[in-house]
Amino acid sequence: MRIESPHRVERFGAVRLHGVQEVYEFDSGGAEAVDVPGAGPDSIRHIPMSGISEIKQQMAIVIPVKGERLKVLEGVLAAIPHDCLIVVVSNSDRRPVDRYQAEVDTVERFCRRVQRGAVIIHQRGAGVSAAFREAGMPQLIDTSGLIRSGKGEGLLVGTALAKLAGREFVGFIDADNFIPGAVFEYVQAFAASFYQATSPFSMVRISWHSKPTFEDGQLYFNRLGRASRLTNEFINLLISDYTGFGTELIVTGNSGEHALSTELAMRLSYAGGYAVEPNELINLLESYGGIQASPDSDVSRAGVDVYQVETRSPHLHEKGEDEHIRNMQLQALSVLYNSPICPPRVRKQVEAELQVGGQAELPEVPIYPRLDSIDWDIFSHVLTVRSQTLHQIERVVPTAIVLEKPIPELGDGDTTIELDAIRVEEQPAR
Ligand code: GDD
Ligand code: MG
Repeated sequence: MRIESPHRVERFGAVRLHGVQEVYEFDSGGAEAVDVPGAGPDSIRHIPMSGISEIKQQMAIVIPVKGERLKVLEGVLAAIPHDCLIVVVSNSDRRPVDRYQAEVDTVERFCRRVQRGAVIIHQRGAGVSAAFREAGMPQLIDTSGLIRSGKGEGLLVGTALAKLAGREFVGFIDADNFIPGAVFEYVQAFAASFYQATSPFSMVRISWHSKPTFEDGQLYFNRLGRASRLTNEFINLLISDYTGFGTELIVTGNSGEHALSTELAMRLSYAGGYAVEPNELINLLESYGGIQASPDSDVSRAGVDVYQVETRSPHLHEKGEDEHIRNMQLQALSVLYNSPICPPRVRKQVEAELQVGGQAELPEVPIYPRLDSIDWDIFSHVLTVRSQTLHQIERVVPTAIVLEKPIPELGDGDTTIELDAIRVEEQPAR
């Protein structure tokens, strides 16, 4: 891959926020290909396929899914590079039709055909809920005793499984992406950025090249999604308030497609719902931005790199209703407004934005403790013993012709139990 070097950077304490980097070539030649000094601009860098390949072997891709079309999910699965571990976290209905079982069947069939492993789990399974509660994260559990619904909660579950599988990087890709080629490009970009990263604590956020819509019978290639426009504006306002310089640096405030080094993911406080992505940036600034005391001296020493990569493919997914988009914007504004580092001036601007939209107040968004605060032994034990929705799809290891579970230390859920029994226990509360 040939990609622009991250040459524009704003430092915020130990956090290095890199300006957006463009992708120039998806494939910039074989392992032996090198950039000839002086032959092209120094600001554009060739990342060898071998380097990208090494990172992909260490990466898990979490796919959150809630009632998406199976054909679309199949396209997404096909686009995840073979060496990445697929982790599907579902919050789909189990009644009247068991959509989760249909997703399990789809993932299993796919994995059998392409000889690879995967992990799939229902976010509101009783077992995984008990595992989080007993391992020390009861905040994740709602009044029905199960993990709360929400995309952020799904990503948190997926990150825990990626960590148990021993993957060094964890990426997130939505299940409703209509363009498998775009998904493939995102994962390549994740890997290329991690290859360039100098700190073990790094994050990559995708900025789409365009988001096409049909207007008056014609395709129109929008630059930004509806939710992102506002979230970016406010995160940039917060940054400007501290630096004293206006900035448009952040273009990925809502970036659903993003990836983290697992080391960094363990230290972040995830937000619930659709606030998860903006909150990652805010939480980094809270912890390592030099405004408050840092909770981790090793992170402060090494620094945190946040990369933003502009990919080439258009981003096309299921269109959200206006109310859904506003809800997403308000969740982002809520975590920003309630952050202890939000300056009074920015709070006032959020209040003005609420007035314009006619909203009385911001939604409450849960912020969960860091994942490294849970007891992993208890977590994997309870998950093994209690989970009925966890499926580990084994892959055939070519050299040994043996079957290998993605997470050897976890057993399987008891899949022999009657489906009706699972339905009763695992039925999400309404
Ligand atoms: N596990 C799980 N649990 N998955 C969920 C849940 C949930 O409660 N809610 C939604 N999902 C899945 C969806 O099925 C989809 O695959 C993905 O999470 C994103 O949800 P959408 O509802 O499709 O979000 P969106 O398309 O409006 O917004 C996307 O883009 C935004 C940036 O414009 C999301 O990725 C946002 O998080 C992102 O900020
Ligand atoms: Mg979507």
